[in-house]
Amino acid sequence: MSAVLKDQPELAVMGASDLDEVIAIERAVYSHPWTRGNFVDSLNAGYCCRTYRIGGELAGYFILIVAVGEAHLLNLSVAAARQRQGAGSLLLGEAMRLAREKNAQHLFLEVRPSNAAGLALYSAFGFRRIAERRGYYPAHDGRENALVLTLDL
Ligand SMILES: CC(C)(COP(=O)(O)OP(=O)(O)OC[C@H]1O[C@@H](n2cnc3c(N)ncnc32)[C@H](O)[C@@H]1OP(=O)(O)O)[C@@H](O)C(=O)NCCC(=O)NCCS
Repeated sequence: MSAVLKDQPELAVMGASDLDEVIAIERAVYSHPWTRGNFVDSLNAGYCCRTYRIGGELAGYFILIVAVGEAHLLNLSVAAARQRQGAGSLLLGEAMRLAREKNAQHLFLEVRPSNAAGLALYSAFGFRRIAERRGYYPAHDGRENALVLTLDL
């Protein structure tokens, strides 16, 4: 690969060789990260798993399921050092594009009520809150509810 191409930001399909870097970011940005097994299962299940690299370095990734006209964003994460520079928006935009391409009408996701960054990002994209799942997430002091958000595609 030429030096010029290597420096280009790029979206790609996530593969097993990405998982060491994915898991390093996952552990750094979540209090209760996904395990390697969660990512391996997502790859094996054929979910839409994408990475975003800048200068060859992993900046973020997402995991999306699309089935029977609906899409569900299971994971969207940006490396701490790359946050607030547009990577989350780029990844979310790509997830929306893929979901539309596969004929999904709605995109759903869960987010912790304490996740101000996530809520701000989703609100900026026009997601609306449709439900709250009680005790959905593990938390340091028990469980935390999940807000269920949706966006009409
Ligand atoms: C949520 C997350 C994916 C956002 O990614 P990002 O690359 O920082 O987002 P962007 O730079 O594209 O931000 C787009 C907009 O979202 C909002 N936003 C993002 N992070 C924010 C923050 N920390 N505080 C307030 N608003 C924020 C802002 O409106 C921002 O636009 P602006 O920078 O022009 O003000 C990132 O913070 C992250 O990976 N967090 C840890 C993992 C996580 O919580 N994922 C979501 C789980 S549901």
